[in-house]
Amino acid sequence: MSATVLVGAQWGDEGKGKITDLISGDFDVVCRYGGGANAGHSVVANGHHLALHQIPSGIVHKDVLSVIGNGCIVDPTVILEEIDHLKAEGLDCAGLRISGNAHIVMPWHKDLDGAHEKNLGKNLIGTTKRGIGPCYMDKMNRTGLRMQDMLDPARFREKVEASLAYQNPILEKVYGLPTYSVDAVCEEFAAYAERLNPHIVESGKLLNEELAQGKSILFEGAQATMLDIDHGTYPFVTSSNCTAGGAVTGSGVGPTNIDRVLGVAKAYLTRVGSGPFPTELDLDEGVGKFLLETGHEYGVTTGRKRRCGWYDAVVTKFAAQVNGLTDLAITKLDVLTGLDTIKVCTAYDCDGVEYTTVPEHRALFDAAKPKYIEVPGWTEDITGCKSFDELPKNAQDYIKLIEELSGVKVSFVAVGPDREQTINRFWK
Ligand code: GDP
Ligand code: IMO
Ligand code: MG
Repeated sequence: MSATVLVGAQWGDEGKGKITDLISGDFDVVCRYGGGANAGHSVVANGHHLALHQIPSGIVHKDVLSVIGNGCIVDPTVILEEIDHLKAEGLDCAGLRISGNAHIVMPWHKDLDGAHEKNLGKNLIGTTKRGIGPCYMDKMNRTGLRMQDMLDPARFREKVEASLAYQNPILEKVYGLPTYSVDAVCEEFAAYAERLNPHIVESGKLLNEELAQGKSILFEGAQATMLDIDHGTYPFVTSSNCTAGGAVTGSGVGPTNIDRVLGVAKAYLTRVGSGPFPTELDLDEGVGKFLLETGHEYGVTTGRKRRCGWYDAVVTKFAAQVNGLTDLAITKLDVLTGLDTIKVCTAYDCDGVEYTTVPEHRALFDAAKPKYIEVPGWTEDITGCKSFDELPKNAQDYIKLIEELSGVKVSFVAVGPDREQTINRFWK
């Protein structure tokens, strides 16, 4: 057994790209299992500053096989741009494998995403407008186009015809948007197929063959636990199962192959888009403004300001439960340097009832008022610390508190964006 799942333990942007890059050299394969170009994973290593949307963060390591699993959705325009960008950085994507079962984000999925958001008005989800919801809708409706369809122009054309037969009226009559012609779409996609077809494989077979040969796989989660379609703050979520279970359905590898689940969490909390966020702070002043500015909390995919708040131990405890976390990586500890005291949410008051895990009913979560404990901060620069013992005592105690409240060992502590700025406590 040698598959590990790496998963976002909060609302996304925890530093999954950084931690994936850090450990992927120890694996033979890195595989994305869900989501699409809504993800934005930063990797800062070997002089590269990368923002990856579709391609696994293991791509920086040339001996690691990068796989986009069947649970992902692929936007050909974004992935080709990414391949070109990586090539310009001197990184070769020739070995990239894309599942034939991954669905394709078609141009109308992006139009429909934007139009639906506009219709929601003040209740908008705040999506990345990358066509995620409409593409997964087509998948679940069994009307989607898959990467394997690009291998056969006649079949691709048939599918586009069938899809546009019902999507064009929706675009035109429901949203007053321009429609698509089958010919133009097929012509556009023929150019994408020419470049992408060599990457399309039977990925489930490939991954299982790798495991059978004793190779190891790292599953790189995108989005996060609280954005999961089933376990997150519905409807303010994405449209896939981002939690660890998604690694099984999104790859074709059985659950008994997985022996570790590493959750990634920031030492505070951020969220992009709408939805409940009990420990949220005002971005215009005080600690909220401090976290936004010191943590450079702007989205990698959309450039939006991220909402910022105190660390929420209830959320991490929930993530530990839903994902079966064996380890935690705590990132951005350096951002807290300079605060006199730090608050940690340990429970919610939901209409007079105390919750120490995330309430499953939306009305209760909407009403959740955080209950805090306050611990002393530190002022020393920690960005150069190489071991846990080098951290100031209050920073060490903060990590131990996170460990105690989640019941999960903190194996990594990140003190800066670079691959080198990471303390490995327990990971082997
Ligand atoms: P992901 O979506 O989970 O991969 O995270 P993002 O890349 O969207 O956002 C995390 C941001 O924090 C990126 O800009 C990273 O370079 C940066 N980052 C990661 N770890 C650390 C850390 O320990 N300290 C600091 N200061 N920045 C970090
Ligand atoms: P990474 O992998 C943070 C959020 C959007 C929106 C909601 C639905 O970089 O952590 P979607 O476009 O998926 O339909 O948007 O989910 N969201 C993310 N927030 N990080 C992400 O990915 C996200 N992917 C989607 O902001 O609130
Ligand atoms: Mg991100």
